[in-house]
Amino acid sequence: MKKFQSVRGMRDILPNETKSYRDLESKLMCSANQFGFKEIKTPILEDTNLFIKSIGGGTDIVDKEMYSFVDSKKNSISMRPEGTASCARALVEHGLNESINKIWYSGPFFRHERPQKGRYRQFHQFGVEFIGVNSYEADFEIISLANNIWSNLNLNPRLTINSIGDIKDRKNYKEVLLEYLVKYKNDLTESEKHKLENNPLRLLDTKNKNLKKILEDAPKISTYLSKESKLHFEKLLESLDNSNIKYLKDENLVRGLDYYNRTVFEYLDDTENTQNTICAGGRYDYLFETLCDKKIPALGFAIGIERLIEYADFSNENKDTINFYMIVLDVKDHLYSQEIAHLIRGISKQFIVSNSYNYKNLKSQLKKADKLSADYCVIIGNEESKKNTCQLKNMSSGQQENIHIDKLKNYIKDKIL
Ligand code: HAM
Repeated sequence: MKKFQSVRGMRDILPNETKSYRDLESKLMCSANQFGFKEIKTPILEDTNLFIKSIGGGTDIVDKEMYSFVDSKKNSISMRPEGTASCARALVEHGLNESINKIWYSGPFFRHERPQKGRYRQFHQFGVEFIGVNSYEADFEIISLANNIWSNLNLNPRLTINSIGDIKDRKNYKEVLLEYLVKYKNDLTESEKHKLENNPLRLLDTKNKNLKKILEDAPKISTYLSKESKLHFEKLLESLDNSNIKYLKDENLVRGLDYYNRTVFEYLDDTENTQNTICAGGRYDYLFETLCDKKIPALGFAIGIERLIEYADFSNENKDTINFYMIVLDVKDHLYSQEIAHLIRGISKQFIVSNSYNYKNLKSQLKKADKLSADYCVIIGNEESKKNTCQLKNMSSGQQENIHIDKLKNYIKDKIL
């Protein structure tokens, strides 16, 4: 019989991982809430044109990676590859773009990329968007929020930052960059030549060593920033310095989505993995203009949840639950054991109590308890059920005590809680 498997690049998140996801999300949510951000939930499916207009035709995401289909009414629909465009669409649609707005979202996104470690076709992002403030103080607040998140998670990823200026700055820069790179056209690969023709800026964050060497002497974007863009960036860096937030200025950081301007940034983990950007974002002051004819400044970032979980192992962090496993040696005592399980659950929400349904010998049941990472086993044999007692075994010390059911609550409160 054909065995079905999950679609390539799309993973099941199994019960032993879901707790890490949920705990992580609640920590991220807590930081965002503390900075005054509120949750938004947007649909998975959007009009394909939304992404073409915002992320940009000519970007890898739009040209190669979207899951799109034509519906029965001949509309082209796409599964969202990222969250910023959908948030902007929703705010405009509901007239919420007029005031300062701070929103966060969390959920699955879809990109048809070549799967590898840290790169999936369905992945999860936690993102924040800050709408309506154009001054550098908002950039500072967004980076402070990211740093607040890292410190709550006991992490210290590296911040790299750049300013790619405004549209006019980039237009001037593109011209000189093109003029410089055209001289090396014969040294470029086919896909690099394609980028050179369409958007030479896309070549700046190359991983190709030859091109990196060529770029060493290329003109730098900082020389082409307008007075306003330059001041915005300098003021931001000054405020990061004053707050002791460490960063690395990287003139080649450009980002792969078209909507950015001025500040762009990424947080990298300290591994050598190729997919080591765990969070990325920046300012997108021109995006709303493409959706509602009004210039509304905005900025934000998104964290890749899978990458964050691979980078930092949260599985044992703040283990706030205590697991009990009920072992019954004879089926006739099963309900007695459920009574005790009920009593233990009532003592604290921290307690997770699982019942065994195989009445095999004690040794095999203890093995199962170990497998389930039980902290305590409650063992009920013939003697125990007759005398209204149970054996409580501490799985790490191996110590075991016989306790009367009337004394169990106080015993657990005193010795375990
Ligand atoms: P992005 O750089 O495309 O930006 O994605 C943000 C993060 O999502 C990445 O840094 C990475 O951690 C994670 N990510 C992206 N693609 C994948 C994938 N295929 N598999 C696993 N993780 C992935 C955006 O999406 C922007 N909307 C961020 C933003 C929000 N800018 C302003 N506001």
